[in-house]
Amino acid sequence: MSDYTLILYYSRHGATRTMAQHIASGVEAAGMEARVRTVPAVSTVTEASEDSIPQDGDIYCDAKDLAECSALILGSPTRFGNMAAALKYFLDGTASEWMNGDLIGKPAAVFTSTSSMHGGQESTLLSMMLPLLHHGMLICGLPYSESALHHTQSGGTPYGASHTAGSKSNLPLTEDEINLCKALGKRVAQTALKLA
Ligand SMILES: Cc1cc2nc3c(=O)[nH]c(=O)nc-3n(C[C@H](O)[C@H](O)[C@H](O)COP(=O)(O)O)c2cc1C
Repeated sequence: MSDYTLILYYSRHGATRTMAQHIASGVEAAGMEARVRTVPAVSTVTEASEDSIPQDGDIYCDAKDLAECSALILGSPTRFGNMAAALKYFLDGTASEWMNGDLIGKPAAVFTSTSSMHGGQESTLLSMMLPLLHHGMLICGLPYSESALHHTQSGGTPYGASHTAGSKSNLPLTEDEINLCKALGKRVAQTALKLA
């Protein structure tokens, strides 16, 4: 079984996906494989309407990707101050991993993208931690030794990485946001390697 950090995200317009890619480079900088996976969108006919392999982008996470990871970094766009239903739907299907204790003692972190600066980044990040705590994971935030946390004018929080994408969801990540994504990936991977 290889050591990897699973970066599991949902993204509708691409901002959270871009964050996942920067986080992956932070994981790799720590010397660990980054496995980037997504989840399907949900609708009333989800399982009937989605192909098992997406048309483009990252492939869908399967139960083995989750159960065998050394660490998990979870990302979602903010939806009304909370994670998107697609990611919640995936997590609600992880009862057997919970019963098996597959994620107990493994490091975890969270990231999000919002359209507005005060649109609920912290509430989303904090609520995303709840299922991870139920799974027995060890939550990693971002420490204030990361200088970008002191001067960012957009995203970036001690609770996890974040991005402010603007009302049209088209603002690129700032240098501070990118640095904090990388720092989060690196921190989680380094923690997993130390625990191993
Ligand atoms: C249904 C819905 C609810 C949203 N709720 C919020 C919100 O509470 N606060 C906010 O700032 N942005 C909100 N947004 C905007 C998205 O969080 C934002 O566009 C995000 O950057 C999208 O990420 P993505 O490009 O990865 O899909 C909402 C968008 C949708 C479609």
